[in-house]
Amino acid sequence: MSTDLQPVIVDKKPIVLDLEAGTYYWCSCGHSTNQPFCNGAHKGTDFVPTKFEVTETKKVALCLCKHTAKAPFCDGTHHQYED
Ligand code: FES
Repeated sequence: MSTDLQPVIVDKKPIVLDLEAGTYYWCSCGHSTNQPFCNGAHKGTDFVPTKFEVTETKKVALCLCKHTAKAPFCDGTHHQYED
């Protein structure tokens, strides 16, 4: 079990998607190859995906820097990682 609690920064901007109503699992570790969603790649780490519900089709900005305080949504934290 990894003790590295720093997620991988996938990108320094959010991904904006039109999501249909349903249940989603946001990747918190940054290792998924199906960003921004969990694909099980967190196994062996201390990370778990963040489950969230969408009740109607809507546009969302999901965090890809993985450091948001409002997971799974972008809260602007990525600006501190910009060059
Ligand atoms: S693959 Fe990243 S949380 Fe599951």
